[in-house]
Amino acid sequence: MAFACRPSDELILVVGTHFTHRHPFTPFDEAPPREADSFVAMPIPEAILPQVVGENFRHRLGTFALDLSDWLPKDSETSLTIDLKRKLLKSRRPEVVAVLPGGEQCAEEAAQLVGRWAGVDIKSSGIEALVEASLLVADDLAVLQPVKQSGGDEQLLLTSAVVCCPSRWVLAEKMGRDMMQVHAPVAKYAEHLGAAVDNYFQRIAVDKPVWRSNWIIQDHPALFQPRIPASPLVDNPNDLWIRMERQTLRRLPRTGGVLFTIRGFQQPLPEYLARSKTIAQNIRTLLERLPADVAQYKSVLHYLPQIVPWINQYC
Ligand code: HEM
Repeated sequence: MAFACRPSDELILVVGTHFTHRHPFTPFDEAPPREADSFVAMPIPEAILPQVVGENFRHRLGTFALDLSDWLPKDSETSLTIDLKRKLLKSRRPEVVAVLPGGEQCAEEAAQLVGRWAGVDIKSSGIEALVEASLLVADDLAVLQPVKQSGGDEQLLLTSAVVCCPSRWVLAEKMGRDMMQVHAPVAKYAEHLGAAVDNYFQRIAVDKPVWRSNWIIQDHPALFQPRIPASPLVDNPNDLWIRMERQTLRRLPRTGGVLFTIRGFQQPLPEYLARSKTIAQNIRTLLERLPADVAQYKSVLHYLPQIVPWINQYC
């Protein structure tokens, strides 16, 4: 545990590398500006909230057909997210941009698709095109490229990306990896999804884009949060946040790659639970069903004994 100073010399608590602050648009290890004190999070969009499916926990593909007119929608947090991206691209570019040799063509094709969506002509080339496109939307952009393997078969590998809102993973560690390798830290991924995701990717057609969403409970709201804290950051469930991602997948017609977009949302957990009894009951059920290893992966294991009874007041 350590202390750091704002310009005003006010002391702020730092736990490990995480600054304890409540501003999603300030990186996890930086102090927010004064005006961040008045920040109120937007409610996470209703359409992506987690639903209870089946009787037991299971990771699911959970994909739905995507209406392209609703591909990368704007909302009241879009400009804050783009400002965060601009700042990270300037000050911490190696943490948020990556490309492997040979990944440039797919990156450009993905960038042009986003540019067309935003009504902007992308001027740059290679990875710079993807950086340019990333500033037109709130979403992060990750591009998978079909690459011939030594055995002759083709695998989709992550070869270019601009990711400013990673939820406790490091972009550089995922580059050049296939889906199974990217998801190696995800408890029960190989068992529940592994081959299903690989097969699914072969079937993503140009004219059949899809979306899916995920959720996680976190003890820090920073959207730019590549690192897992060394130890729990809060004592009270009132200080937890719920974080969700809306993800989309589109096949790139020219290169055969796949563009994966990720939009991060977060809301203080008490505000989220207070939205409705059904919302609170769903989260309670999902938490009750989480196996310990998945709860550990979702960084919620430590808080579980406290949270489940605490949620009852919202049900
Ligand atoms: C249908 C496609 C996909 C499915 C079903 C899927 C599923 C999952 C699941 C279940 C998790 C654990 C978090 C959670 O509970 O949701 C996860 C994490 C993750 N996914 Fe995916 N995913 C898909 C596509 C992708 C793609 C295309 C990428 C490309 C970069 C990706 C990158 C990641 C990363 C980086 C993590 C965090 C891994 C870590 O903690 O190190 N996913 N995914």
